[in-house]
Order: sequence, then C-alpha cells, then structure tokens
Amino acid sequence: MQDTIRAVQWEGDALKLLDQRLLPQEEIYIEYHDVVAVAEAIKDMVVRGAPAIGICAAYGVVLAAKAHVQNSPTDWHNAIHADLDMLARSRPTAVNLMWAIERMRQVVTACATQPPADALHTLLTEAKRIHDQDIAANKAMGDFGAQLIESPCGVLTHCNTGSLATGGYGTALGVIRSAYAANKLSAVYADETRPWLQGARLTAWELVKDQIPVTLIVEGAASHLMKLGKVAWVIVGSDRIAANGDVANKIGTYQLAVNARHHGVKFMVVAPTSTVDLKIASGDDIPIEIRSPQEILCLGGKEIAASGAHAWNPAFDVTPAELVDAIVTEKGVVLQPTTAKMLSMMEKA
Ligand code: MRU
Repeated sequence: MQDTIRAVQWEGDALKLLDQRLLPQEEIYIEYHDVVAVAEAIKDMVVRGAPAIGICAAYGVVLAAKAHVQNSPTDWHNAIHADLDMLARSRPTAVNLMWAIERMRQVVTACATQPPADALHTLLTEAKRIHDQDIAANKAMGDFGAQLIESPCGVLTHCNTGSLATGGYGTALGVIRSAYAANKLSAVYADETRPWLQGARLTAWELVKDQIPVTLIVEGAASHLMKLGKVAWVIVGSDRIAANGDVANKIGTYQLAVNARHHGVKFMVVAPTSTVDLKIASGDDIPIEIRSPQEILCLGGKEIAASGAHAWNPAFDVTPAELVDAIVTEKGVVLQPTTAKMLSMMEKA
C-alpha cells in the first residue's frame, strides 16, 4: 500500500495545503504564510475533515506567532489570542479544531517568557507533534478496526475520512486500508456524499491511488445495497463524539445508521480521542454547521435546481449511540457505547 497522500504539509516557513476543492481533476498545493488566510482555507474547504483542520489550525498558530513576534516581540503571547479565537470560529462542528487550538494555546502560555526564536521553535515542534500523533493514532485505529471485521466482507463508507481528512492514512478509510491489506475485504462501496461529493471526488481518488477497488453509489442506493446483503459493515468517521457516544458526522450518516440497524448491518465509527468531547453530555448539544444553500442549488458553479427553490444545508447530523456497534479510537474499541464505557476508554493511558 502506498499511503503517499499528505494534504497538510509544513515546508520551510510555510503551510502547504492540497486544494481539495479541485480534486480529482487538479492536484494543486497552495502556500500559506498568514493565519487569516488559513482560517479562510478552513471555512472554504480547501482543507476539510476534522483531524486535518485541527492540524492545519495548529500550523496556523505558528504563522500567527511569527507575525506577532515581528510586530511586538515582548507582547506577542498576549496579542496572539485573538487569532486563536478567530481560527476556532472557522468551522463549528469538528471539535478537533478547538482541541488543537487549545493545545497550542497552552504552549503559547508555557513559552511566553522564552526568547521569541525559541518560542517559535517550540510552537512549530508542538504543531508537528499533533500532526505525527494523528498519523500514529490512525494506524493504531486501522489495526483495531480491521480486527473487528470478519472476512470476506463488503463495507460501505461515507464522506472522506482518509489521508485528505487527517494527518495521513485516515480514520474510517484507515480501517478500510488496514482491512484490505489483511485481505479481509471483498468490496468497498463509497457513497457520493452530496453536496460536496467527498465520496465521489476524494474517497474514490484516494482508493484508486492506493489500488483498492472502489464502487461508487448514490446515497439513495444504500438501503438497497444493504438489503441485497452486499455489505456487513458501514464504517464512518466523526467530527465530534459526545460523552454518551452520540456521533456527529457528515450529513447522511444518521440515515445510514438507521438503515444499517434495520438490515442487520454493523455500524463502526472510527475517530481519534481528539474527536471525543467529554464536555458535551449528548449529541443534542453538538453545534451543527449550516452551510450556504448555494452548495445544493449549484454544482461546479452552475445552477442545477429550479430557480426560486430554497435549500437547507446542514453539513452534519448526529447518530444516537444506540445505533452504533463500535467506536474505535487509538486507545481501543468501545462496543455498544455508553457514557461509562466512553469515560473508561478516555481514562486509559
Ligand atoms: O465537511 P467535511 O468534509 O469537513 O466533513 C468531514 C466529515 O464529516 C468526516 O467524516 C469527518 O471529519 C471525519 S474525517 C476523519
């Protein structure tokens, strides 16, 4: 397996992002030197996927620190907080974003008295650590998740949860990569994932690149696929998991979980512990991002809906814990999640 895609990179003095809006037609990296532009890149989906936007924001903090150190070498550690808050507002649902920013904020405080050059080095080291730890977590989850799968098995995934959505390797797609490498998968189905087509554009691109056969379906074909017995597992990622195991993920995940339960198909959620938000008791309190109606009314810049129609565009939904068979994190597997089981998993070293 190649696993060569790295959508978020630090090179020299700059953050480089693979522009995911252009895939699969064009593979173009954009360089960022400025934290405001990084926040815009997150908002506009140049970079997307919960862990990836967290990592990107961590590097954004380094860029912010550089600018503040130049403007005000003695007060940079106070001036920077407004930038961190601005980054945190760029997308509301994925808690990995706030998690990474808070981790960087602690380092800002800890190195406030260091000479500026040392502080910048400490911050960059921490951002790289967040990035490396995410890749390591994904590989561990890949092994845990693959162990749950009995071969030969067909699986269905939703959205894009691969190298593009993370530091590398992927969460749900990491499990699919590991299970495929262990010869456990007879078929991988990916749904298109309207309106951004993360499945058709991004997941299919990653799997084709890694020579893992992938079959696309429209989202409406999922029940039929399950009824025909073509998949034994639905495997998805998450943007935020509440303390009771309720799972926020790309819009359409909830209906897959309902369908899966009806058809006796198992439902696996794969996410690092940086996605678990113990401050939120249940999924009812997870903020759901509502994006522009234009994303539904238009495709590729062209109007596709009847002119005058309205559109409602929630980007995420919440799947109740009772529909989830397994939550896989780098700390292990929680079967049939409850608050007690989630707390005990989070307490593990
Ligand atoms: O709107 P997106 O593309 O950022 O949504 C991404 C998802 O919903 C993913 O499933 C989630 O972030 C988990 S990715 C490892």
